[in-house]
Amino acid sequence: MPENERAAATTITPYPDGPLLVRGDFALVTPDGERIDTRRGTVALCRCGRSGLKPFCDGTHKVTGFRAEGNHRPT
Ligand code: FES
Repeated sequence: MPENERAAATTITPYPDGPLLVRGDFALVTPDGERIDTRRGTVALCRCGRSGLKPFCDGTHKVTGFRAEGNHRPT
């Protein structure tokens, strides 16, 4: 079975011009190993660097005009 068709416990999706959506069974932890409460099975992590709620996306990327592709493929 091709690698991209195997089921994964966790998926991370880079949204075009937006956050990384993390879905599934995961733990979000600080660099010291403390668990960060996500309260949900799906979270949006900021990748624009402008969120006021880091590491979570707060929608600021829309205001700042952040641009990034969603379909990164290895070359
Ligand atoms: S990606 Fe949404 S605020 Fe940074």
